[in-house]
Amino acid sequence: MTAIATSDTALQLTRDGQLKHFLTLDGLQRPLLTDILDTADSFIEVGERTIKKVPLLRGRTVVNLFFESSTRTRSTFELAAKRLSADVLNLDINTSATSKGESLSDTLLNLEAMASDMFVVRHSQSGAPHFIAQSVTPGVAIVNAGDGRHAHPTQAMLDMLTIRQHKGSFEGLKVAIVGDVLHSRVARSQIAALNTLGVAEVRVIAPGTLLPRDVESLGCKVQYDMRAGLKDLDVVIMLRLQRERMQGALLPSEREFYRLYGLNTEKLALARPDCIVMHPGPINRGVEIESAVADGPQSVILNQVTNGIAVRMAVMSMAMSGQVAERTRGQAEGEQA
Ligand code: CP
Repeated sequence: MTAIATSDTALQLTRDGQLKHFLTLDGLQRPLLTDILDTADSFIEVGERTIKKVPLLRGRTVVNLFFESSTRTRSTFELAAKRLSADVLNLDINTSATSKGESLSDTLLNLEAMASDMFVVRHSQSGAPHFIAQSVTPGVAIVNAGDGRHAHPTQAMLDMLTIRQHKGSFEGLKVAIVGDVLHSRVARSQIAALNTLGVAEVRVIAPGTLLPRDVESLGCKVQYDMRAGLKDLDVVIMLRLQRERMQGALLPSEREFYRLYGLNTEKLALARPDCIVMHPGPINRGVEIESAVADGPQSVILNQVTNGIAVRMAVMSMAMSGQVAERTRGQAEGEQA
C-alpha cells in the first residue's frame, strides 16, 4: 500500500483548491472545512422534506466499497448518494470475487469499466484510498470512509457540524477525546479538524497504553486522569475500545477501564453544565459509556448520525464538481495546445 505523506494532500485538491477526492483532513485549510460545513448545513433541510431528493448527482454512479463492516457510515453514504439522485451500487465484499482472490486493483478496474463516477472506500489498510486515488482513471472521485488507523474524515466533519450546531462556533471551546486514541482513525481526523477550525484546546484522556507515541505532536494536551481532564469541558467525545485492532494486553480489564475512563453521570457533572457528549459509534454500553449518559439530555450521539447524511452529501457533491472542473480545464488546455 502507498505510504501516506503530507504531500499526498495535494492529491485531493484541484489546482484552484477545490476538493476532487476526500482522503484526509491533514493539510486542508479552515476555509475549505468551513465550506464543507456550510454546504452540509444547506443539505439538512433536504432530509426534512417529504421528497428527500436534489438532482446534483443525477446520472452519476456511486460505488460503495466497504472492505470492513459498517452500519452508520455505509448507510449514510448510501442515503446521501440517493438524496443527491445518484445511482448507487453497494458491492457486497463477502460475496464478491474478492473472496476468490481478486486483487483490489482488478476489482477497481472492473468497476471503472462500468462507468463509475465515485468510489466510497472503507479498508483495513491505512492508505488504501490514497492508493486508489493515485491509480484511478481521471474524473473518478475517491472518498475515504475510514482506512486502518489513519483517517475517517467524513466522521470528523459530521462531528464538527454537530459541535457547531450546539455551540455556535469553535472559538474558545475545550474539547476532550477519551479512550482508545491509539487505534482510532476517528480521533486522528477529529484532532486535525478541531485544530484547523480553531478550538481553544484539544485534550486526549486515556491510559498511556492507548495513546500513540506522537499524540502531542498532533496538537493536543494529554491527561491521564479522567476526573481532572473533564474540568471546564464544552465537548466530550468518547471512543470505542477497538478490541479487533489490539495486539497484546493493553488493558487490565474492561471493568477496570470503565472504572477509570468510562463516562457516567457522576463524572460528567465535572464538566461544564452545558457540555455535550459525543460518540462516533458503535457504542459499548458499560465499557466506555453508561446508558444514562448515552441516552441522556447532554448526549448528541444520534444528531451525529443524522448529520452524517448532510456532510456526506456535501463531500460527494463538492468532489464531483471538483472532478468536473478539472476535466473541463484539462480539455480547454488540450484544445489550446
Ligand atoms: N462511526 C462509524 O464509522 O460507524 P460504522 O462503523 O458503523 O460505520
